[in-house]
Amino acid sequence: MFAPSILSADHGNLMADIRKVRKAEYLHIDVMDGHFVPEITIGPRVVKAIKRYLEEENVRQRLDAHLMVTNPGLQIDKFVLSGADIITVHAEVTGHLHRLLGRIRELGAMAGVALNPATPLSFIEEVVEDLDLLLIMTVNPGYGGQSFIPTMLPKIERASRLLKKENPHAILEVDGGVNVNNVSLIVDAGAELLVAGSAVFNSDPEKSLEDLRRAAKGEPKE
Ligand code: DX5
Ligand code: ZN
Repeated sequence: MFAPSILSADHGNLMADIRKVRKAEYLHIDVMDGHFVPEITIGPRVVKAIKRYLEEENVRQRLDAHLMVTNPGLQIDKFVLSGADIITVHAEVTGHLHRLLGRIRELGAMAGVALNPATPLSFIEEVVEDLDLLLIMTVNPGYGGQSFIPTMLPKIERASRLLKKENPHAILEVDGGVNVNNVSLIVDAGAELLVAGSAVFNSDPEKSLEDLRRAAKGEPKE
């Protein structure tokens, strides 16, 4: 499954770009607050507009909000009310992960936790049953177009084993530097949901998504 990241889309023609990736199962929305990471990107109003657009177009695509923010507790309700189906918070910013995950689920959304490259998997050990999604960052968050950190492959494998054992319903998502050359390795390591920003939007998004799907299955490029 794929989640194109609209961080690399044309924000002046956002809905037109979103339309080009309507065949993807998810749409990844990178929310940056200018504090946890330097950039400021997308707020709940834009999420609401995207949701409305997808409904009007009859596109069933889940909105995957990746909150790169210092204080996610202040934002969860607004993003769920605006239509986010998944809310992912970073383990590094909170001492109250259990509470935040509970709140996300209480609001009816799927609860995700993201781990930066340097953050050990053990950070989620005590809440593994409370999450619906685990996001392994394979770049340091903040920007699109960075290179995949290869040493994250064994971490993806360990995360996959952990989820299979402790919470097989949870989705393992990978974000950062995913492209046609590494996607099959990432899938082989156990990733189920692949975020791709620059690899999708820097050229023809529809074709790039198709190329990624083929590459993920180990098939050659068309
Ligand atoms: C990075 C973001 C990613 C980003 C990925 O902070 O979380 O979702 O959009 O972009 P690419 O696929 O270009 O690495
Ligand atoms: Zn992201």
